[in-house]
Amino acid sequence: MDRQLQDGFGRSIEYLRLSVTDRCDFRCVYCMAEDMTFLPRQQVLSLEEIERVAALFVANGVKKIRLTGGEPLVRQGIVGLCERIAALPGLRELVMTSNGSQLGKLARPLAEAGVKRMNISLDSLDADKFRAITRTGDLAQVLAGIEAASSAGFARVKLNAVVMQGRNADEVVDLVDFAVNRGLDISFIEEMPLGEVGRSRGESFCSSDWVRERIAERYSLVDSAEQSGGPARYVRLKDFPDSRIGFISPHSHNFCSTCNRVRLTAEGRLLLCLGHENSIDMRALLRRYPETDQPLLDALQAALARKPLRHEFSVGGEVQVLRFMNASGG
Ligand code: 5AD
Ligand code: SF4
Repeated sequence: MDRQLQDGFGRSIEYLRLSVTDRCDFRCVYCMAEDMTFLPRQQVLSLEEIERVAALFVANGVKKIRLTGGEPLVRQGIVGLCERIAALPGLRELVMTSNGSQLGKLARPLAEAGVKRMNISLDSLDADKFRAITRTGDLAQVLAGIEAASSAGFARVKLNAVVMQGRNADEVVDLVDFAVNRGLDISFIEEMPLGEVGRSRGESFCSSDWVRERIAERYSLVDSAEQSGGPARYVRLKDFPDSRIGFISPHSHNFCSTCNRVRLTAEGRLLLCLGHENSIDMRALLRRYPETDQPLLDALQAALARKPLRHEFSVGGEVQVLRFMNASGG
């Protein structure tokens, strides 16, 4: 029997974003405060628990799983976990979002484990600006990670840049050049107001329309109806057919009507929508019912019936959701 999870508005849930750790070796200014306290280990799902949740979702119609963090590659045992999730019958693709710092050594093992596509954050090509944005990141190491990922055998490698006025907005065209010269995709992301990171975000906010205009000054853009199963809108460049340029615009273009996803945090909280505090405690259920999945499935179906129609971020970006991005799972 084919089972398919649906929410109260009839949207099929086919995409699960799974955070495997809240930890990260970077401290990006839009994601974390400078001194973060991370979860104690017993509050984080074990690898077995993560695998059990993944299997439950896939058995109920989820076709795509993205592993996120924090930084997923700082979790011990991540390659084996990928191998087991990739092998779940019915899963179409296992993909990952990484900051790239560990990809120099892990890109190939991950591709061999069955990870199909890799998204890598790259906000700047200037070592000092990169360090200022990530606070601890080393640009050369990430560039080596991107290089390794490009030749590891992934079906696609995509770069992600969060664009901020006064930090990297002047590098938009350079980042496009970098991507197209390597045949990579790149998405530009509007900063989302998640967690109190110690500054006002309205000042640095940069809209996707502004980013698109900067790119159009240099390249001929061709609109594209392509979808990746995510909220990005894509354009192609007339002279570089291998690359797609994406815009993820939680502020300026509401994309909720086609939302097909839910997120599981590293501590096993199932978030129905990034913009709401609505959630269910899957960890408690996993630990209370080690032998049977039915109570988990019942809770899931009841929760999905309450998945909100749309998120409620405001332009200007004041904090409404108190979770940090690393706790939400990218
Ligand atoms: N706004 C937008 N994107 C964010 N990310 C993290 N925090 C935010 C935020 N506040 C995205 C970045 C990063 C990925 C892991 O999550 O693109 O690369
Ligand atoms: Fe780490 Fe990604 Fe958050 Fe940066 S955005 S601190 S790389 S989890």
